[in-house]
Amino acid sequence: MKPIEIAKDIYWLGVIDWNIRDFHGYSTYQGTTYNSFLIVDEKITLIDTVKKEFADELIASISELVDPKKIDYVISNHTEMDHSGSLPRVMHRIGEDTPLYCSKMGHKNLSKHFSQKWNYQPVKSDEELSLGKRTLSFMETRMLHWPDSMFTYVKEEKLLFSSDAFGQHYAGLERFDDEVGDTIMPYAKKYFANILLLYSPLILKLVDKVTEMGLAIDMICPDHGIIWRKDPSKIINAYVKWSQQKPKRKAVVIYDTMWHSTEAMAQAIVEALGQEGVDARPMHLRSCHRSDIITEVLDAGAVIIGSPTINNGLFPTVSDFLTYMKGLKPKNKIGAAFGSYGWSGEAVKLINREMEETKFQVIDPGLRVQYVPDDNGIKTCYELGLKIARALPSE
Ligand code: FEO
Repeated sequence: MKPIEIAKDIYWLGVIDWNIRDFHGYSTYQGTTYNSFLIVDEKITLIDTVKKEFADELIASISELVDPKKIDYVISNHTEMDHSGSLPRVMHRIGEDTPLYCSKMGHKNLSKHFSQKWNYQPVKSDEELSLGKRTLSFMETRMLHWPDSMFTYVKEEKLLFSSDAFGQHYAGLERFDDEVGDTIMPYAKKYFANILLLYSPLILKLVDKVTEMGLAIDMICPDHGIIWRKDPSKIINAYVKWSQQKPKRKAVVIYDTMWHSTEAMAQAIVEALGQEGVDARPMHLRSCHRSDIITEVLDAGAVIIGSPTINNGLFPTVSDFLTYMKGLKPKNKIGAAFGSYGWSGEAVKLINREMEETKFQVIDPGLRVQYVPDDNGIKTCYELGLKIARALPSE
């Protein structure tokens, strides 16, 4: 892609990864972008790089604007290799001695990824770097979402380079929020649910801090997807709302099934929930990707999980999802378990244990049906649905 000027003498130099469909276990049906930026000031500064495979494309984009050897500073806001993977090629091309600014943890983590002894310049929050006409200010954002993560703010343009925060896995020719409208919000929500949900308390603290500082932000440039220039407050407010995890009158019934018995139970529970005005949906674990399911979990008040018992345990896809969800620590959920079994029937007990460890409020001992649910079995599922509906907040 050709560079795009996003503010006077500040350029987007990203690359578009149209074909990626699996980003370390996260489904990316629309691909993604890796955004890099160049500030052409008295000191020419490159902010973040791109995934290793796209290093030549990035160097070609830089070369359209300046001789890469003229770059004075490189800033690495985040070590993860979708943003640092091109550093070896880029540093080699522009000069191995070029000062490389990063957080203290960035220095440590980059050194663990790359053997080169680059000219690291670790910075702390509130440290500044003059580029000539502009001044950059650094803000460490530890654990948003790695220990090394930081933001870089351009004071004069009120422009925030936010690393992964506020990003979206979305590949397109559009570069700005005003070019895509609200269609981008589901991508931003999915990104939040899968990458940042675990750090919700830190996000709320960070937004409070930025508000207290009175930091004006006219543009947010994340490292993935589109740039927020029309209304940056829209994505900030969405992050606050998603971080608060206020439960909606919504239930996600997540299940897998062997011979359709647990599926029939899931459908009866969903039907009862729907009858009570709950936004409810079944999500079959081999039909829906875990990263889409967790996106639905984000604002649901109830997470109901069903598994048949197989080999005295959980169906493997259910174990996979429970592990994934536990790591992301969703809050303010009620939970219940259900499942069909043949002879031993441990699945419900195992789901309950996982939900308790995830700090869900388990509102029912769980529902087990042997082999195939008969009319009475379906009725008990229906009753479980009604019980969940009663436990959810009214809106
Ligand atoms: Fe886009 Fe944490 O890397």
